[in-house]
Amino acid sequence: MPTVTLGNGKIFEIEADDTVLEGVLRQGAVLEHSCKTGRCGACKSAVVEGTSVAIGAEIGLDEAERQNGVVLLCVRKATSDLLLDVCDLGGALPPPKRILPCRIQSLERVRHDIVHVALRLPPNSSFAYFPGQHINLSSRGGPARSYSIANAPRPDGMLELYIRYVADGAMSRYWFTDAKANDLLQLVGPLGSFYYRESSATNLALLATGTGIAPIRAMLQNLAERPAASRPRRILLFWGARTPDEIFWDPSEISLEIEFVPTLSRAAETWNGARGYVQTAMMSSKIEFDDTVVYACGSTAMISSVREILMDTGLSHRYFYADAFVASSD
Ligand SMILES: Cc1cc2nc3c(=O)[nH]c(=O)nc-3n(C[C@H](O)[C@H](O)[C@H](O)COP(=O)(O)OP(=O)(O)OC[C@H]3O[C@@H](n4cnc5c(N)ncnc54)[C@H](O)[C@@H]3O)c2cc1C
Ligand code: FES
Repeated sequence: MPTVTLGNGKIFEIEADDTVLEGVLRQGAVLEHSCKTGRCGACKSAVVEGTSVAIGAEIGLDEAERQNGVVLLCVRKATSDLLLDVCDLGGALPPPKRILPCRIQSLERVRHDIVHVALRLPPNSSFAYFPGQHINLSSRGGPARSYSIANAPRPDGMLELYIRYVADGAMSRYWFTDAKANDLLQLVGPLGSFYYRESSATNLALLATGTGIAPIRAMLQNLAERPAASRPRRILLFWGARTPDEIFWDPSEISLEIEFVPTLSRAAETWNGARGYVQTAMMSSKIEFDDTVVYACGSTAMISSVREILMDTGLSHRYFYADAFVASSD
């Protein structure tokens, strides 16, 4: 069995048949990850020593990263002992993944191309997750798709989702044509390492594009339930859309002081708010980045751009967490 040594010296023995990511997760440690299909880039790591083989396309890497020996741990098997330069995330471990049936409680179009879904889980299933995590859902043996849970855990156990229509999408067709209350679905989750972490930083900057607001809403609801002393002192929310009608949810529903900056890329001249992209709006906000934790969710383009900008400011990658809504591989 190959061993995997992380940058902080922790050593794990993994099954040769497992991907490096799965092998380490199985040992109860969390490495950053999301899609597990080589697309989002969350699980990238340089290999300092050892060899591995790719068992799928590493779409989430750019050419410079490939040249520098960076790999995606979700599509790599170890062919020798490995020394990696990533560290595990530490802190509380997210609840274990489960497979459960669930039913649609309600479906509501909040825009012509966005549906709000509430899912009902079996009574007493006690499904636990960290706000920010996602689930995989499939309908009647159809393909599984990932959706971020849009609410903090509720007393009635219901899970909320915001789902955007994608043209010619297999699950989009289901959600926008066939889905109805009481439909039975299969849920796998909770999944991913995108969840809020305790921090002593003064500022929290949350960035979203489109339905990337879903896990951010879950985190904000959860923050509102915490005592003020355990919350960041300043919370900024940058939500990017093309036009004002795409801002389909009102953050004022949360009883928290949030500096909300809706940012429009195709605003009419009458628009008085921020223009352009969320990353530009964040940079104009004059927050001290050495005292800020940043969470970003939505398009890959936004996340890559934010990561690049923040690393240029000297922000440690440990203060930047992201979840890219990449397309599925089937
Ligand atoms: C971790 C994670 C969390 C996610 N959370 C959400 C969420 O909360 N809400 C939500 O609406 N979506 C979310 N997504 C995206 C979602 O999983 C699906 O990829 C998306 O809804 C399309 O599925 P589909 O079956 O309709 O289309 P598919 O049948 O998968 O794709 C149809 C066509 O559209 C392309 N395509 C797929 N997705 C996109 C896209 N995002 N942009 C442009 N083209 C695309 C495909 O390449 C394909 O050509 C998430 C994805 C990930 C990885
Ligand atoms: S690329 Fe590995 S988790 Fe997304």
